[in-house]
Amino acid sequence: MTAPRTSKIPYGGDYNPEQWPEATWAEDHRLFTKAGIDTLTVGVFSWSLTQPDPGTYDFTTLDRVLDRAATHGRRVCLATGTAAVPPWLAKRHPEVNRTDFEGRRHRYGQRHNFCPASTAYRGAATALAARLAERYAGHPALLAWHINNEYGGACYCDLCADAFRAWLRARYETLDALNDAWWTTFWSHRYTDWDQIEPPSALTEHWRGPDHTAFQGITLDYHRFTTDALLGCFLGEKEAIRAHDPDTPVTTNLMGLYRPLDYHRWAPHLDFASWDNYPPPDAPPTRAALGHDLTRGLKDGAPFWLMEQTPSTTACRDVNPLRRPGELRLATWQAIAHGADAALYFQLRASRGACEKYHGAVVGHAGRDDTRVFQEVAELGRELSDLGATTLGARTPARTALLFDWDSWWALEISDGPSRPVRYPDVVHAYYRAAREAGADVDVVPVTADLTPYDVVLAPVLHLVKGDLAARLEALVRRGGSVLATFLTARCDEHDRAFPADVPGPLAPLMGIRIDEWDARPEDVVNPVRLGDLTAGARLVFEIVRPRGAEPVGTYGADFYAGTPAVTRHRVGAGEAWYVATALDQPGVDHVVRRVLARHDLVGPHADHAAVETAHRVTPDGTRLLFLLNHAPEPARLTAHATAEDLLTGRRTDRGEPLTLDPHGVAVLRLR
Ligand code: GLA
Ligand code: ZN
Repeated sequence: MTAPRTSKIPYGGDYNPEQWPEATWAEDHRLFTKAGIDTLTVGVFSWSLTQPDPGTYDFTTLDRVLDRAATHGRRVCLATGTAAVPPWLAKRHPEVNRTDFEGRRHRYGQRHNFCPASTAYRGAATALAARLAERYAGHPALLAWHINNEYGGACYCDLCADAFRAWLRARYETLDALNDAWWTTFWSHRYTDWDQIEPPSALTEHWRGPDHTAFQGITLDYHRFTTDALLGCFLGEKEAIRAHDPDTPVTTNLMGLYRPLDYHRWAPHLDFASWDNYPPPDAPPTRAALGHDLTRGLKDGAPFWLMEQTPSTTACRDVNPLRRPGELRLATWQAIAHGADAALYFQLRASRGACEKYHGAVVGHAGRDDTRVFQEVAELGRELSDLGATTLGARTPARTALLFDWDSWWALEISDGPSRPVRYPDVVHAYYRAAREAGADVDVVPVTADLTPYDVVLAPVLHLVKGDLAARLEALVRRGGSVLATFLTARCDEHDRAFPADVPGPLAPLMGIRIDEWDARPEDVVNPVRLGDLTAGARLVFEIVRPRGAEPVGTYGADFYAGTPAVTRHRVGAGEAWYVATALDQPGVDHVVRRVLARHDLVGPHADHAAVETAHRVTPDGTRLLFLLNHAPEPARLTAHATAEDLLTGRRTDRGEPLTLDPHGVAVLRLR
């Protein structure tokens, strides 16, 4: 199953009319019509209203909300509302409340506050989902199911401990296998009974915080278990929905680069992927793009939904900057350029009370339709209506893949040695950014993905190499492709046990190198790396590379390893295997990645315009679209590299003609 079929990009967002008197609702719909809003995400936090006590379901409000939406021709993305439990459930079944990493059993409060192993929670959540599906399957407004909200966090209670043990039994079958995987002979940990196993927390294996564990194998498995435990909650609700509604697509809103959950384990169970995009303030535009491409990669490149973004500001950060004029439009087109087939906001009308009253909304507390934000939202609504179905279902024709792996993320960041400051998303983003700014479309995919469609595969800090990946990478190189791996790649197996072999383990033959030693230095120590005409800065980790067939491409400039290779290339079959042995600065990463891409003619025509982002999509009927996004507050002057028509203005440009983008401007070119 795929995303819901629509005739245009669904446009709208989270709508909580239950917070206002019904008199406001008519005005809401007037404003929605004015803003081109056709899709409402409803019910995300209405459990306590829909089920005020264990024995009572009251659908009065939801009935009215959905019926009114239908009257106005709007569609509803209907949430099951199980992310924030009602007070009565927590009071009646205290075990529903989570136990935190420090072992404190919480009392009622906040949201995302349930223990995933609690049968009281699961039973109540599933029953609610079933009742909702029974009632609203077939409702004319229903467009999609939205289960729960931003699943996340972990619980360390006794129920979870039992569930963890059961999960481990299923995974390992015998204690011998588990002892072997976790390397328990170290520090006298050999388990002789499943009951001896404890969740890794501040009370057990951890000594400074969640990233400091005595046993990486145990902590890794707890991350996997938590992923599966929350997925179990999702699946329980999905099954309950399916019993009444076999057809309507089901999703949950993910969070992109969210460390606690391995979304690749979730992906097969989502009918379509969706995510909430709140890029860190001041992050380069490639940071949001990485989230989009990661989300698109969950479902083999199928379009996803942008389930939330703020129209103006967030509220949860210490400082919450405003989106500048034009930035919302640009961010929305960026999402579409990367494969979004829906553009939704959090939120349509601002909450009057509690912690999100300062969060941006399409309609503020004063209810005006003449604010700058409302007008920008409405302008975008008109643009998306004019665009119609053109981009729906279009896929990204990427020839570059970046391998993204939650296991490696976890393993790297819970590792004692060699360097705590190495952060997985930062290194991944540096390589992603280099490829994107060079103009390459990039699929961000799991290590199990089919690599045959790609010419270039980037494997930054892929700490764990699992399954047959090494063989598949070698096959890609032999047939002419390029593989790039970096420092701290291929160090360990799936249990975070070091390979009993030369570094980089199963990739050593392909890379044509051997590494015996590595040096980690404080963040302010820079070793200059010569790369052709460029001298790049390198930091954090310096692996000392002994070529075994590879040729040096860049060399360290300082310390006792000065003159030894920091970047190597190994020709194997018809292709090349590149290894970057240190954390190069962005110019250094750019240099290396562009050389790799250039071999496959993958450096785009606008790669010299730092602020101009390009992205391609190919529609189901074969139309090729090129999105041009100007991230600078000044105009960008380009030269058209192909004859094309801009779908937003109708303007035609011939190859070689000047093409100017406004400040923060966008063009959606239909290529001839
Ligand atoms: C998340 C949640 C929303 C809301 C927004 C605020 O994405 O899903 O309920 O809290 O953040 O930014
Ligand atoms: Zn628990």
